[in-house]
Amino acid sequence: MLVLESIVLGLQAISSLFTTRPVAFYDPTENGGFMLDDAGSGVGEPLNVIISGLSSSGVLTNDGILHYAQAIGFSFECLGFHLGAPQSANLGDGNGWVNQTMELRQDYADYELGTCLESLVGGNHFRQAQVFRQNGTEANSGALFLAVSQEEDVFEGHTIIPDGYNTGRDLLVAAAIGLTSHEDVTYSTVAQNLTGLLAPGSVGVNHGIATDGITVLLTVTIV
Ligand SMILES: *[C@@H]1O[C@H](CO)[C@@H](O)[C@H](O)[C@H]1NC(C)=O
Ligand SMILES: *[C@@H]1O[C@H](CO)[C@@H](O)[C@H](O)[C@H]1NC(C)=O
Ligand SMILES: *[C@@H]1O[C@H](CO)[C@@H](O)[C@H](O)[C@H]1NC(C)=O
Repeated sequence: MLVLESIVLGLQAISSLFTTRPVAFYDPTENGGFMLDDAGSGVGEPLNVIISGLSSSGVLTNDGILHYAQAIGFSFECLGFHLGAPQSANLGDGNGWVNQTMELRQDYADYELGTCLESLVGGNHFRQAQVFRQNGTEANSGALFLAVSQEEDVFEGHTIIPDGYNTGRDLLVAAAIGLTSHEDVTYSTVAQNLTGLLAPGSVGVNHGIATDGITVLLTVTIV
């Protein structure tokens, strides 16, 4: 009996070496990564929203995040209407610099054409978010890091509005918190402000737009 118990304990100890404990995210800067992505020409956009790795696993897949994005007013990027070069990020997970997994754009009423409309109608500000996944073997949280901004419409040259990073983040968070739903899935989202990840100010930030240095951690649970 004792022998059996020690075998079981031994097996548990071995298996715990191979299972990673769920974690909200890993600070990219602790392993050679950055909280600014690379938008080209030596500047970047702040990773100002993190979808926690402790969210429901169904939210963290590509299909899952697209579905959730639709519940909070985003949609697929309008097909064939990609407006810029992909951005890349180094999340300190051992993958180095990796292109965005996807780009989300704010949706307007029309489901299929929503994002096309917002770009073509003009005159509106819209939100966009580049999405990066922290899943390298050195920091495999599964968290999604988002660079969110509020932009001018396409005919204004697709530029970020003054204070567009803080504003875009705050509007996304306001739309996300509490209960939201899309099709048959209901989400419960809680937000937590994180400081100390991003430096406040405009050093290295695309367009020289200063930020308040807050990254919002969203934990999304499918209810
Ligand atoms: C990122 O995207 C650019 C443009 O599509 C491409 O040239 C580059 O090879 C990509 N980088 C990686 C690491 O996939
Ligand atoms: C990590 O995420 C990237 C981007 O979504 C994906 O292409 C890749 O397959 C993922 N890697 C693993 C090991 O799941
Ligand atoms: C988080 O930060 C934003 C931006 O400064 C602020 O508006 C909000 O009230 C803060 N939320 C909490 C819970 O502290």
